[in-house]
Amino acid sequence: MVIKDLTEEKVKKLFKGDIVGKEIIFFQSTTSTNDKALEIGQKLKDPEGILVVADAQTRGRGRFGRQWLSPPNTNLYFSLLLKPPFYQKDIPILTLMSVVASASAIREFAGINAAIKWPNDIMVRDKKVGGILTEAKSEGGNIIFVVIGIGINVNIPLNILPKDLRAFTTSLKEEYGRPVDRTQLLGVILGKLEYWYKILLKGNKRVLINEWLMLNSTIGRSVKVQSSDGVISGIAEGIDSEGSLIIRLPSGDMKKVYAGEVTMLKDYNHEHL
Ligand code: BTN
Repeated sequence: MVIKDLTEEKVKKLFKGDIVGKEIIFFQSTTSTNDKALEIGQKLKDPEGILVVADAQTRGRGRFGRQWLSPPNTNLYFSLLLKPPFYQKDIPILTLMSVVASASAIREFAGINAAIKWPNDIMVRDKKVGGILTEAKSEGGNIIFVVIGIGINVNIPLNILPKDLRAFTTSLKEEYGRPVDRTQLLGVILGKLEYWYKILLKGNKRVLINEWLMLNSTIGRSVKVQSSDGVISGIAEGIDSEGSLIIRLPSGDMKKVYAGEVTMLKDYNHEHL
């Protein structure tokens, strides 16, 4: 049975903040909500707050050029356009903001212990349940606009995932034991995006980083990080004020990674989350 928990009508009645969701564009199916949002960003002078939502994507994209599985009637796929008066170097902080909003909304709405894997994976029991793809247009070091694309595996049955993904991926329904209403969850995430974005606009980056630290499951663990500089292993010590990951190498030296992919090296006890 298909549950119609995400329709144009329901989504358009959603929370409208002062900024987030000032206009909502809904597609039953589109190529990628990030592509649609990027097109809008190129056309409009002030795209701040416009939200693109789709029930399905035919060319959903993940980080590192990966495909993002986007079947209909199951998951959340949406992209938020922002036009913050920030520098290009601040883009990672906007990604941290989005993962904090998503993970805390999942905790609050579904009571599931969602955690963050640096920089922007949403995890439950060390399996991926969602991710963020931030894309931006900048000029002379200033942001012209940013597209924050969020994908969450909400009600997808795990048996339709490709076999190679099943060991590393889960869905909220799988963790919660019953379907989660996608429109209501989206509303909670949008409320939190609005809250944290206003905090960043006031210059309070530290408060956001503290919240990210509270929700993360990376710091303190042995990790391997793949970045454009190659692969390094060490202990994840913390993040700096720009959102870069600080790794303590076996030599004792500290190394900062601006962007990359983390793999956990040791088993971990989830009880403290
Ligand atoms: C990742 O973890 O690799 C990021 C996944 C981001 C997926 C979302 S779904 C909505 C938006 N549209 C896309 O094509 N990608 C993002």
